Formats: sequence, C-alpha cells, structure tokens
Amino acid sequence: MNADAGAGSGSAAEQHTLAIAHPSGGQLIVSRDIDEWTQRAADLFVTLAQSAAQGESGHFTVALSGGGTPKRLYSTLATPAYAGQIPWERVHLFWGDERHVGPDDHESNYRMVRESLLNRITIPEENVHRVRAELSDAAEAARTYEADLRGFFALQPDDMPRFDLVLLGLGPDGHTASLFPGVDALHDTEHLVAAPWVAKMNSYRLTLTAPALNNAATVAFLVAGGEKAGILHDVLEGPSQPTLFPAQLIAPVNGDLLWLLDEAAAANITH
Ligand code: 6PG
Repeated sequence: MNADAGAGSGSAAEQHTLAIAHPSGGQLIVSRDIDEWTQRAADLFVTLAQSAAQGESGHFTVALSGGGTPKRLYSTLATPAYAGQIPWERVHLFWGDERHVGPDDHESNYRMVRESLLNRITIPEENVHRVRAELSDAAEAARTYEADLRGFFALQPDDMPRFDLVLLGLGPDGHTASLFPGVDALHDTEHLVAAPWVAKMNSYRLTLTAPALNNAATVAFLVAGGEKAGILHDVLEGPSQPTLFPAQLIAPVNGDLLWLLDEAAAANITH
C-alpha cells in the first residue's frame, strides 16, 4: 500500500462522499481491497484526530478495538506518512475491551496495540489508558477502568463518556467489543464498563457497555474479509436480535455510525 499517496487525503467530506446510507442507520464505506480499506481507515483516524485536537477540548479520545482486523490500521498509523499528521501529544488512547490477562500476555489487546503502534510512535505515557486487566478480580478491573474513565471525562454520576471515535470489530458470532451473545452485560445500562464471564472463551472479559459505546461522536466498525460476509448480512439486514447479534446494539445516540468494509465482507449486503 502506498501510504504516501493516501496519507491524510481522506478529508471528512471525502469520507462522507464515499459513504452509502444503509437502512440499518449506518453509513457504509466499501473499499475494493484491504489496501484501500486500510488507507481509508487511517485517513478517517487522521481527519478526526486533527479535527478534535483543534477543537474545544483540545484533545482526541479514541477507544481502540482489539482482535486481528485493526492491526493493519494501527501499523499504518505508525508509519511516518501517517504518524507525522497525528498530534499524538493530544491523543488519548483507550480500549473498547480487553481480555482478562496481563499487558504482556499474547492475548492482550493492549500488547497488540503496543507492538503495532505504541512502540513505533512518541505519545505521552499518561495518554495511554490501558485496562488493568492483570487484576485477578475481573470486576475490580472493570471498576478501576470505569474510575479512570469517570476521572478523565470528569463525569457526573449518570453521565456517559463521549469518545470522539470508537473503533469496533465484528466477531463471527455477531459480538462486538466483548459484548458476546447472551451475556448479562448486554443489558447493563448503569455501568460504563462490565466484566462478563464468556463461557465460550472460558474466561472473563472487560468491555465498555453499549451505552458507553453509543455516546461516542463517531463509531466505526472495521470489518474485512469474506469470512465476515454472512454475519455482516445478519447484523445489518437480518431481523433485530441484539441478544443473539450484540453488534445490533450499536446505534450512536448523537453521533455517526460508519461501517468500513472491503468488498469481500460486503458481498452479501443487498442495499
Ligand atoms: C477482541 C475484539 C473483538 C474483535 C472481534 C473481531 O477483543 O477480540 O474486541 O470484539 O473485534 O472478535 O475480531 P477480528 O477483527 O480479529 O475478526
């Protein structure tokens, strides 16, 4: 991928001209291949980071997705062509979810971001808000992360954080973040962070709750690859079954919902 050619060329207006409104309420941005997909995701990040950092708050807050798909984006953001356009000293990184493991565990979403991005850029340590998932009590880890969020965003008791950007993936079973089918956390409207037991993973997970995710200014799903075509169709064009397909819970209350897709993932989308 020639990052130089595309670095930062995706103005907000251009991103939105690429978007196709979908009846489910989101905007679909479909790229011809994974290289164009990565470039558009990186351009979106740059555009939103620059805009937020120059805005009233003076900083850009983003909740990063875990999993495999976003690694390409994080690695691209670390290249000089992109990293040089991002005001990292004004960027605050959070995680949308985390595995119940320490920061050096191969399963850790923090470790994945450290290796693909953090080790290759200069960002103040205090701007990296990782989940203390090494705490043996997952519920305590959730409370600790929630306290960090409440402190950073200076929230009143009933407030939700408003991230400038939330990045999300889509699991093959329709989960997003660590909101897995059937877990109680799907119905949690009180907390910012939950610690569901995920039976299929035989482990606890830490996750932002749907209300915390839905208060963001922009939510962008990053979905690529033909193996996601079936579940993406079910989520976007099938019946509303959010307990079965938790990604259907994501509907920003006052923000944009973008689906950054490649053609392979979008193959079964009829609208
Ligand atoms: C995680 C992610 C998870 C992920 C989906 C999709 O902790 O694994 O937060 O929700 O986004 O499982 O993963 P892929 O992008 O690797 O398909």
